[in-house]
Amino acid sequence: MHPFLTEENLHWKAKAHEVAEKVVRPLARKYDELQEYPWEIKDALAEAGLLGVWIPKEYGGAGAGVLNLCLCVEELSRACGGVGVAYAVNALGSFPILLSGTDEQKSKYLPMIASGEKLIAFGLSEKFAGSDAAALRARAVKTENGWNLNGEKKWTTNGGVADLYSVFAVTDPESQRNRISAFIVEKDTPGFTIAKIEDKMGIRAVPVVELDFENCEVGDDSLLGGKTGQGFKQAMLTLDHARPGVAAQGVGLAQGALEYASVYANRRRQFGKNIGSFQMLQGMLADMSSQVAASRYLVYAAATNIDNKAPNISRLAAEAKLFATDTAMKVTTDAVQLFGGYGYMKDYPIEKYMRDAKITQIYEGTNQVQRMVISRWVLKQARELEYLCNYLPDETQKGVDPSEV
Ligand code: CAA
Repeated sequence: MHPFLTEENLHWKAKAHEVAEKVVRPLARKYDELQEYPWEIKDALAEAGLLGVWIPKEYGGAGAGVLNLCLCVEELSRACGGVGVAYAVNALGSFPILLSGTDEQKSKYLPMIASGEKLIAFGLSEKFAGSDAAALRARAVKTENGWNLNGEKKWTTNGGVADLYSVFAVTDPESQRNRISAFIVEKDTPGFTIAKIEDKMGIRAVPVVELDFENCEVGDDSLLGGKTGQGFKQAMLTLDHARPGVAAQGVGLAQGALEYASVYANRRRQFGKNIGSFQMLQGMLADMSSQVAASRYLVYAAATNIDNKAPNISRLAAEAKLFATDTAMKVTTDAVQLFGGYGYMKDYPIEKYMRDAKITQIYEGTNQVQRMVISRWVLKQARELEYLCNYLPDETQKGVDPSEV
């Protein structure tokens, strides 16, 4: 029996593990080299029923929620970080519909995503609006029958292979609080093109692209939730639900790298001994293992809280994303170190883990943005701890107004 995971959790974890070991790991290097979308892996994921894990049963999914999604992402990323995100990004793209769509939008789109018939991507970032997402410039203007979209999107993962796109655009440039709205855009809509396919350091199995909209006409029914001005909040709500998935990618990458490193430490001989017998390497492996475990339980806690509709999910999702992806970078770098010269070479699978890990500290909000989100919550909560001022010397508090924070 697992201390935290239920039978249902273990079922999804085992299913994803099986696909990861039978299909993903043997193909990981091929798709890293080719930098092509792994359609044969996507088919295996669809066949195993993994593409609709987080989608409610009434819309054709498994209704298994965010924790089970994270368990699947972790297992897939353990074998290949690119496949882990190729899978998880469908959750990122579909969360706007799931969390904010109208009943019609959910019924129209979620079943085709759950079955794997259609892939979906998320278009928020732009060249001049990355961390400062609210500064985006893509524009949607009301027409008689719908909306006219113009502008660009940057770093859209799954772009080009996805059939559907959650796209954020300015509908009310004069408004401070309600500038942005979200739209569901279908791939073949005239005026919508892929402007550039990026050549990337890691996660090479999944495309990351620029989207271009030039007089792209979409219907009124494309407006997410049927309401304008909600786009920024819909994007933030989506990211709160999706960031644990990036964190799970970090856990999987770190776990996968630790496994290769520990197998190597048992076999590689230097100075007449297995290198695993040296205390310096034992210390490294112990730190790596403890950090992976701590990350994993933070991700499980964040995902469980999201499934339980806890109130402070922004903070929990950001903490899991920050800690697990910083851990992924550290553990995968240490794993390369442990492999020595071989670790730096592409003949060995380990350098790919380090390349795949780097982006997890950047996308779905840089870890600097996660620190902003977390510290805002910490300082807000401190207002409920005002009684602690009684234990602070008077001079600390002179002229201080806590509401300024
Ligand atoms: N849920 C609901 N509402 C939220 C919210 C949340 N989590 N966070 C903020 N809001 C609301 C606020 O309450 C506020 O509402 P009011 O105006 O009614 O008061 C409004 O949104 C503005 O909030 P902030 O003042 O906090 O906004 P900000 O401009 O300071 O930005 C930020 C905050 C956290 C930095 C945010 O911009 C952010 O998360 N940036 C990173 C964006 C990001 O993650 N991009 C990645 C895109 S996906 C990707 O990486 C590509 C891919 O394909 C994988």
